[in-house]
Amino acid sequence: MEYKKLIKKLKESEYLVSMTPVERIVEIGYLAGMNPGSAVLDLCCGYGEMLKIWYEAFGIRGTGVDICGEFIGTGRKRMAESGISAITLIESDIFKWQTNEKFDYVCLSGEDFGGLQSTIELLEKFAKPNGKLIIGTRYSKVPDPPKELIDFEGETLPLTEIDHIIRSNGYYITAMASDTQAEWERYIMWSAKRHLADLRESPEDQSLREWCDTWYDMYFNYRKPYEGYMTFVIEKI
Ligand SMILES: C[S@@+](CC[C@H](N)C(=O)[O-])C[C@H]1O[C@@H](n2cnc3c(N)ncnc32)[C@H](O)[C@@H]1O
Repeated sequence: MEYKKLIKKLKESEYLVSMTPVERIVEIGYLAGMNPGSAVLDLCCGYGEMLKIWYEAFGIRGTGVDICGEFIGTGRKRMAESGISAITLIESDIFKWQTNEKFDYVCLSGEDFGGLQSTIELLEKFAKPNGKLIIGTRYSKVPDPPKELIDFEGETLPLTEIDHIIRSNGYYITAMASDTQAEWERYIMWSAKRHLADLRESPEDQSLREWCDTWYDMYFNYRKPYEGYMTFVIEKI
C-alpha cells in the first residue's frame, strides 16, 4: 500500500466537513458539467475545500462564504500555499453578505436554515436563470425518524420527501452522491476532538461536558442507525 499517498489524502480530508467523499465530490462536479468557465458559489463553505477540489479538477472560479473566521483564515492559507488565486474566501454571515454576481452553480452543504424549502429559495437568489443548485443534506433512513433525532438535528426528511420538495420547486435531481461510513466517522471525530480540546482547557465547564456526552450519545443511538447524508445536484429542465 502507498502509505504516503494515503496520509496525504487523510490530511486533505481533514478540511472537508462533509460526509461525501472527495471522489464523489469530483464526480458530482463532472456530472454537473463544471468547466473552466464555471462560476461557483459555496455558501457555508467551511475551509473552502469543495471549491478547491472543483478548481483542481475542472478549473472553476469559486467564491466561498463562511461565518467562521478560523475556517476562512485556514482556507485562505491553504489556497495561497497551493498558488490558487481563482478562489475567493469571504468571512461573513451568508444572510448579511451581498453580491450583484449571479453564479452557474450555487452550493450549500452541511448546513440548513429552516429546512430544504428555504435552502432552495436561498440558493436561487444567487443563481443564474439556468443555474444548478448543489445541496448536501442530512436525511432520515426511515419514514418516521425518532423524535430525539429531530430535536437534535431539526428537519431530517426521508429521501422520498426530499425528492418531492425538489420537484415541487420545478427542479429534478440530476446527480447525487451518498455518504460513506468512513466520512461519518471522520466527521464525528473531527468535531468531537475540537470540543474535547476545549474541555481539556476548561474541565470545569459543565455545559461543554454535557455537549460532549450528547455528541457521542446522539451518534451511537440515533445518528448512525437513522441518519444519512446525500449531496444532490438539482436543475430545472
Ligand atoms: C458542517 S460545516 C460544512 C462546511 C462545508 N460546506 C463542507 O462541506 O466542508 C457548516 C459550516 O456552516 C458555517 N455557517 C453556519 N452558519 C453560517 C452563517 N449564518 N453564515 C455563514 N456560514 C455559516 C459554519 O461556520 C461551518 O463552516
